[in-house]
Formats: sequence, structure tokens, C-alpha cells
Amino acid sequence: MDVVIVRDYEEMSDRAAAIVVRAIRQKPDLVLGLATGSTPEGLYQRLIEAHRKDGLDFSRARSFNLDEYVGLAPDHEQSYRRFMNEKLFEHVNIKPENTHVPDGLARGLLRHCAEYEDMIRNAGGIDLQVLGIGRDGHVAFNEPGTSLGSRTHVTALTRETIEDNSRFFDSPDQVPRFAVTLGIGSILEARKCIVLASGAGKADAVRATVEGPITSAVTASALQMHPDTVAIVDEAAAANLERTDFYRWQQENWDRIADKL
Ligand code: PGA
Repeated sequence: MDVVIVRDYEEMSDRAAAIVVRAIRQKPDLVLGLATGSTPEGLYQRLIEAHRKDGLDFSRARSFNLDEYVGLAPDHEQSYRRFMNEKLFEHVNIKPENTHVPDGLARGLLRHCAEYEDMIRNAGGIDLQVLGIGRDGHVAFNEPGTSLGSRTHVTALTRETIEDNSRFFDSPDQVPRFAVTLGIGSILEARKCIVLASGAGKADAVRATVEGPITSAVTASALQMHPDTVAIVDEAAAANLERTDFYRWQQENWDRIADKL
């Protein structure tokens, strides 16, 4: 996994946006894997700016979100479908029918999970997957202990995740207990992944993800097996990493060989 250490949240968002913008320009019908949460919001703002100011064209792009709460309607204030509509989709020219978020109200959730996987496969697979990480090292809603080979499935949320996400609800009691999520095996099939992390609260999770053993106790650590993943982390989130000298050295010297790649 490549590690890029940046100053702060703003620079993390700038770096991530540069990668996504380049990918869309290179492949206008890009299949984007998208994440919700506070972490990618800055990235989405920058994509909206790139659309408005520089004409970044989403008209052929397709998107698949990682997860959705079970039991929340798409228009529920805290549903991930609504988050995506409000934070990105309504502000760019992506076609609504080309955006996909698992349906938390689907009847026959297990069948829905299999169909969601089929839709991704039929779209040609995810070209570029954006990921955040939870404090416990989860990606999407793959909580500690989830099989590293898992496919899209229904999962219970841990107490820690319920507590973390309760900031968006009136009380922890209102946080759904279950979610539909892409599995780790599904995420590992994306051609490229960008992992974003910002703030001291993520420092342990970043260390375990990047330098810890590959373990289902930290599902993001499975990304160490992925051939093309870059972690873009700010200084606070990178605080517990051990090999920072190497990451910085690599970053600083990269330009010297960039034109030979
Ligand atoms: P956050 O959530 O971006 O709101 O910190 C990350 C996650 O739980 O995956």
C-alpha cells in the first residue's frame, strides 16, 4: 500500500480529488465506488467545484456506494442514499439512474445483496474505490471479525460504530442496528482504491491498517493484499505510523521516476 502523508483534511481532500478528476477525464464512463461519512465530504465538494468551474463531465460515469442502513428509506434524513444525493449527485451531471446505493428497505435483503454484486459485475467492476476507515479499522460496514473474503452481505453494527454514528441521529437508540455492505472480497476487486483518514481519532486504525498484520480484526488491513491502493492520511491520522520517514522519502523522490512509469 502506498502511503501519502499530507498536512490536514483540506490537503487530503485535494489529493483525493486530483486522483478522481484525472480518472474521470481518462475514462469518462468510469465506475466509481463511493463512500459516505465525514471523511469524503471535502472530496465531494471539490468534485462539485471541478464540475462547475472546469466542466468535469459525469454524464457517462457510474457509481456504486459501499453500504446503506437496513430499515431507512432512501429519503430518510440519515440514509446514505440521501447523503449522496445532497453531498454530490444533485450538484453534478451524473445521471440518477447511473448512481447505485444498496436499498435498505429491499424485501429479500439477501437476494438484493447478490443482485447488487451482479450490477457491479455487469458494469464492468469498480475502477476506482473511495474508502474511509472507522476507528475500529472497518471499511464500509465490515466490522471486526468479518471474513476477509466476504461479499455483499447484511451485517450487525458494533456498539462502537453505533456510538460513532449516533452524532447524526437524535440518540444512539435511533441508529439502525443492521446494514447492507459490500464485503471485503468485493472491495478488493476494485482496480484501484484510495483510503482516506483524517484526525487523531483515526491514528490507531491507520497504523493497524497500513502496518499491522492482515487480520479480520481490522478489516481495512486486507487492503495490504490489494495491488493498487493509496492511503492518503493527514499528519494527525499518521501520528502512530512507524515508517513515516520512508513514506515521506518515497513521496519526495517519486517525481524523479514519474515520467518513466
Ligand atoms: P467517518 O466514518 O468518515 O465519518 O469518520 C468513516 C467510517 O466509519 O468508515
